[in-house]
Amino acid sequence: ARANPHAEQEAWEAEQIKKTHVTRVGAQDGGAAVPQYDYVFEDTMAFVKADMLAGNIEELFETPEQRRKKEAEARAAAAKSEREKIALGRSQLPVYPYREQLLKAVEEHQILIIVAETGAGKTTQVPQYLHEAGYSAAGKIGCTQPRRVAAMSVAARVAYEMGVKLGNEVGYSIRFEDCTSDKTILKYMTDGMLLREFLSEPDLASYSVMMIDEAHERTLHTDVLFGLVKDIARFRPDLKLLISSATLDAEKFSEYFDYAPIFKVPGRRYPVDIYFTKAPEADYIDAAVQAVMRIHVLEPEGDVLVFLTGQEEIEAMEELLRQRMRGKGTQLSEMIICPIYANLPSELQAKIFEPTPPGARKVVLATNIAETSLTIDGIKYVVDPGFAKQNSYNPRTGMESLVVTPVSKASANQRAGRAGRTSAGKCFRLYTAHSYENEMEDNTVPEIQRTNLGNVVLMLKSLGIHDLMNFDFMDPPPAETLLRALEQLYALGSLNDKGELTKLGRRMAEFPLDPMLAKTLLASETFKVSEQIATICAMVSVGSSVFYRPKDKAVYADNAHRNFARGGVGDHMALLAVYDGWAESGFSTQWCFENYIQVRSMKRARDIRDQLVGLMERVEIEMLGDPSDLDAIKKAIASGFFYHTAQLRKDGSYRTVKHPMMVNLHPSCSLNPPRREGQPLIQSLPRWVVYHELVLTSKAFMRTVSEIQPAWLVEIAPHYYDRKELLEGEGAAKKVPKGAKARTALDAAVAAGVD
Ligand code: CDP
Ligand code: MG
Repeated sequence: ARANPHAEQEAWEAEQIKKTHVTRVGAQDGGAAVPQYDYVFEDTMAFVKADMLAGNIEELFETPEQRRKKEAEARAAAAKSEREKIALGRSQLPVYPYREQLLKAVEEHQILIIVAETGAGKTTQVPQYLHEAGYSAAGKIGCTQPRRVAAMSVAARVAYEMGVKLGNEVGYSIRFEDCTSDKTILKYMTDGMLLREFLSEPDLASYSVMMIDEAHERTLHTDVLFGLVKDIARFRPDLKLLISSATLDAEKFSEYFDYAPIFKVPGRRYPVDIYFTKAPEADYIDAAVQAVMRIHVLEPEGDVLVFLTGQEEIEAMEELLRQRMRGKGTQLSEMIICPIYANLPSELQAKIFEPTPPGARKVVLATNIAETSLTIDGIKYVVDPGFAKQNSYNPRTGMESLVVTPVSKASANQRAGRAGRTSAGKCFRLYTAHSYENEMEDNTVPEIQRTNLGNVVLMLKSLGIHDLMNFDFMDPPPAETLLRALEQLYALGSLNDKGELTKLGRRMAEFPLDPMLAKTLLASETFKVSEQIATICAMVSVGSSVFYRPKDKAVYADNAHRNFARGGVGDHMALLAVYDGWAESGFSTQWCFENYIQVRSMKRARDIRDQLVGLMERVEIEMLGDPSDLDAIKKAIASGFFYHTAQLRKDGSYRTVKHPMMVNLHPSCSLNPPRREGQPLIQSLPRWVVYHELVLTSKAFMRTVSEIQPAWLVEIAPHYYDRKELLEGEGAAKKVPKGAKARTALDAAVAAGVD
């Protein structure tokens, strides 16, 4: 009889389980009470196996001959030189056999839609093919990416493949970071940066080819670019335009670009078994940790990819996994944890692409950047909690926020597909089959329909596009959102009542910033605090927290951080104090350690600040300032952010001023009063505040908050606020009770906010 093909596997699993039971009984972790490691999962999390990933799997399978051939090639490669290995690797990508046909299609058509599965080689190979075919002689080859990490990482990869130094022939350009030179012929950039380039080069004259990549992601900037490139293609017949997408329904792109031909590259994909949880999971981070441990203990070799919603979650999960693995060196194989998110420093990004050493397992913790933008070889297991951070916008209230939202079915299937790129894989979904079927949308709504358009409208106006209602959008934004954007820009003073750009608006458009921040910078001149505002704008643009708060030293960190916000000056001033303190120390790294400040974020803030100051000089803003003039600084902030104001309510929460909505101070906010017993907590809360952004998690939180005076609002935005309205509000706020009830309500609010 035939031997059980799974015997080895089963024996191994049994062995692992036995070992973990031993761990439970006898392990010692530094003498402390032995934590319970639930490596036996049946009772904690039950998965049900569902179908295989939809798709024509049989057709996509490799035949045994094909596989043997590939393996032989790989063995031969091991003996060869680095350059030969690169060439071999390139020739094994799915797009390679189609190189000549693709080049021919580009030659014959001005606009071409390219469709191929993720990892096929669209982003890294197609621009290289065009360069090799001589297109770069007539101008640069540009390629846009919706995400900054992807732009950096693919540029680095392509520079490596071409054997050149990044920033020379191959470069990238992302907001606040330009890694290109006169030599650059292959330029990767974020879609937002190409949009900015239109301001200085409206016909993209220096390019011979432009590839709008990851078109299926339908980011706001990509959608606007569609309209712009379609327009210039008409009067630049020499410009080649490629639109590339990872999803198969490209007809829509084709139709939009006057029925441009679609070039499809068949993909190869292995089957992926999909598992759902039997019951909903209360805490998906916890569940994800469980699932990863389960894979690590029970499943054969192969790397794991976990989809999380952002940097904070990724860091939290990394910490939890490290805790679970601590002291397990002898019982479990090594686990290499690799985080990847937008603000990850570039020197750490390369780590996720390093091959996993034999016997170890790589666990990649990623945002949805790994859904289609980045392909990591060797992934066999995907853990999908089913969430992503999305911006959402309510045009009626002008309220914009980041919300953790369930992903669409299309996203979930893309995620699952990541497990089957190099061999058969498994995807563990941390939600039920029922919620997949009944609660998840089929497709993600394009960003243009769920975001504030202020930025884009200002940009289009600067490009001389006035009739926005008739702009050629692939999917037009709601008319209400467009109107609201025009109205906001009018209130900020960047448009006049005819909807034309004002001088202020023209100056604002020079800054790669949200209109509210740009306005703040320009207002800083009036209040004579341009030095301080440049710093604050740079600090809020860093994109991640500058405050470092390791769990085991949280008390020390909190103490250190409190120093910067002494006297209840608010978060903006605290950020200023951090930067000034660091500058005074001579930008010392030691200073950052001592004060629990992220040195990387600070370096980024300094780069951003330098660039902002450069731009401020260009629009002739005089750099001056008095760091002690708190009111002037806060007035400048309010000049840009008067939309984001809120007023204290009786229970210690806040209500936004124009379109009433309940909001709360974010737990990280320095204005949160100390929660000591017997203290009249609510009294120490400012009555009126301005906030930088709204984050929706368990409730709506204002992040980065400072106190303001309501009278300023009338002074700063007289056409937006009237005195009566604000003073009526004042009366209400004064009726704050001093009773214990308010205190507990506030405590509850603060406690609930600790996420
Ligand atoms: O754009 P598309 O998804 O079609 O594929 P790609 O990004 O061009 O990736 C092609 C190959 O390059 C994949 O096997 C990736 O793993 C590899 N790659 C890499 O090793 N390092 C990078 N930074 C980017 C891609
Ligand atoms: Mg790509």
